[in-house]
Amino acid sequence: MDFFHYKNGKLFCEDKGIAEIAELIGTPFYIYSHATLTHHYRVFSDAFKDKAKIICYAAKANSNIAILRVLASLGAGADIVSGGELFRSLEAGIPASKIVYSGVGKTPTEIEYALQADILMFNVESLQELDAINTIAGSMGKVARVAMRVNPDVDPQTHPKISTGLKENKFGVDIKEAPAYYQRAQQLDNVEIVGISCHIGSQLTKIAPFVDALKRIKALMEKLEGWGIDIKYLDLGGGLGITYKDEEPPSPASYAREILSVIDSSKTTLIFEPGRVLVGNAGVLVTRVLYTKENHGKKFVVVDAGMNDLIRPSFYESYHKIQPVYVGTGKTVVADVVGPICETGDYLARQREIADVQQGDLLAVMSSGAYGFTMSSNYNSRGRAAEVLVAGKKAHLIRKREKYQDLIKLERIPKQIV
Ligand code: LLP
Repeated sequence: MDFFHYKNGKLFCEDKGIAEIAELIGTPFYIYSHATLTHHYRVFSDAFKDKAKIICYAAKANSNIAILRVLASLGAGADIVSGGELFRSLEAGIPASKIVYSGVGKTPTEIEYALQADILMFNVESLQELDAINTIAGSMGKVARVAMRVNPDVDPQTHPKISTGLKENKFGVDIKEAPAYYQRAQQLDNVEIVGISCHIGSQLTKIAPFVDALKRIKALMEKLEGWGIDIKYLDLGGGLGITYKDEEPPSPASYAREILSVIDSSKTTLIFEPGRVLVGNAGVLVTRVLYTKENHGKKFVVVDAGMNDLIRPSFYESYHKIQPVYVGTGKTVVADVVGPICETGDYLARQREIADVQQGDLLAVMSSGAYGFTMSSNYNSRGRAAEVLVAGKKAHLIRKREKYQDLIKLERIPKQIV
């Protein structure tokens, strides 16, 4: 569900014509729909209505501070994986008391920063990390709230690069060893055990892996409670998939139903870390056709957005619908839609039936709101794209397009070498 639609043959984001923005700020740019974002947050939140919960939006999906602010105003917390994401979340007004910190490689500086900010809890991913948090908290005269991030060894049936809950993945601690980790944590002076966390993967389109993981965690939870360890927070991670092409992921409501059928949610506050399901379909990448060409009978549409702007097709072979901003004749062609980067892997779509666009036409790469801008780079010294947030008729520039000077502003030529 989204608020991108055609009106008189022109693509709109809510009540704003997309071509109008392209004329004003140039291309490529990301455009996000406030109504879509809000709708998705509410649907997720309503699915767990009347339950004690915190929806910790996975900031990595889209961390523009305006997006974070919208979510904060709806009541969201944040799941962060770096000091940078903590900084952004706090700047955007997300209360530290709703921030959980995941990730296998938290540095001492980042741990200190998170303790200073007094975040809700650390999702701890190794014994050494647990010790580091204990030591740092001790040196600051603080007590760190922790959950062990458990790896339940469940196949999420998703792309291997975004699976996290299998035993061969680097994430979490082996569920079989988790009780020993909790015992260790109990002995430490500067940590307080408050929860269990788990995230098994991303873009999950089936419900069974979530339920399998939860059943294993429930068994662990019961064991810990038997030892007198109070699990205040049960963090079930993110991972709910969206429709890019023809996937039929479970709705938040059916996801909630299944979860609540396994777990007694009256005893613990549930934490969720949704990313993609909130922002994925709320964003589109708009790009202009630079040239069309044919090589040995194969058609290419060369656009001004490349893998530096949206890496998902190259990196995961992922599918994004590509729609014309002006409907045109309705004629179609089969072509590769490629960017300007000097890599064969630089494409947005391959052998795809798309509108028969001409030089200068605009295309919209749909469902790019999650892991689009956040995974973009300056490769080939290309400035990163602008970002726009639309609410009704109003469009707000929420990130300027990077200029040439931005590319080099942190670089220095040492005097000694010239
Ligand atoms: N929590 C943790 C600990 C995570 O590692 C992730 C995603 C999430 C929550 C949010 O998952 P979501 O609800 O968005 O599925 N770049 C990839 C996705 C990588 C996801 C990494 N972790 C992509 O473009 O598909």
